[in-house]
Amino acid sequence: MNAPQRVVITAGGAGIGRALALAFHATGARVAVCDIDASAIAELAEIEPEIMGRVANVTNSDDMAAFLADVDTAFGGVDVALANAGTGGPAGPIEKLKLDDWRACISANLDGGFLLCQWAAKHMKAQKSGSIILTSSTAGMFGYPMRSPYATAKWGVIGLMKTLACELGPYGVRVNAICPGAVEGDRMERVLKNEAAVTGRDVEDTRQIYVKGVSMKTWVTTDDLADAALFLASPAASKISGMVMPVDGHTESLT
Ligand SMILES: NC(=O)c1ccc[n+]([C@@H]2O[C@H](COP(=O)([O-])OP(=O)(O)OC[C@H]3O[C@@H](n4cnc5c(N)ncnc54)[C@H](O)[C@@H]3O)[C@@H](O)[C@H]2O)c1
Repeated sequence: MNAPQRVVITAGGAGIGRALALAFHATGARVAVCDIDASAIAELAEIEPEIMGRVANVTNSDDMAAFLADVDTAFGGVDVALANAGTGGPAGPIEKLKLDDWRACISANLDGGFLLCQWAAKHMKAQKSGSIILTSSTAGMFGYPMRSPYATAKWGVIGLMKTLACELGPYGVRVNAICPGAVEGDRMERVLKNEAAVTGRDVEDTRQIYVKGVSMKTWVTTDDLADAALFLASPAASKISGMVMPVDGHTESLT
């Protein structure tokens, strides 16, 4: 029997990250997550005490070093690293955006990926195997009016993924990105409200815009994303690397 996969997930306390954590745990994997929100970590521990949870902000290198040192002690390495953390950033025309908000969005979406991949690459190169999965977005595949910081950050995630797929491929390490469409849940409800506030549109009209450009006229669920990640981390995907995988019902346009 194969040893259980050792899986590390950023922003795993809630939303997509929590679904990823529970799905990998259900396969028998050993799972560690970090999250900036202590209450989300406590809630996850109640749902599934076997998942290792730590409070860490992915933009803080000391937090990440402490989290990953704990993972080293507990697991002795990693087989699957999911760089999932990201925040939506400000909405609005570029001339109205503030530099600090731009920086915070770029940092929240990219720093955790950088720090997690840096650590995972050391382990995975040495063991000559591993799967890294970064969470981008359909915003990393299209232009996205009024959301320039987020779109820029998520295209950046694709750049990191493509580059690491080249760097780590010779060591048998695969690197891929998942691009969720609009996911049912709290976060999209917040996004809809923010966008409605800057465009002056109704929240329900804004919701319809998100479905309008999707061929399958649907949002997606956190379970859809977990299924995609389980596949990418599995032997069934053993020759898949450098791939941008949309999980979105096929987005034709974000505008
Ligand atoms: N929800 C969507 O519709 C959607 C669509 C496309 C892409 N994404 C991407 O998927 C990923 C997860 O999104 P989600 O919807 O689950 O988010 P979410 O807003 O539900 O947050 C999930 C968790 O991330 C944590 N978090 C936020 N900032 C953090 C930080 N700096 N350090 C550590 N943890 C942090 C939060 O505390 C929360 O528990 C993000 O990268 C997001 O950009 C989401």
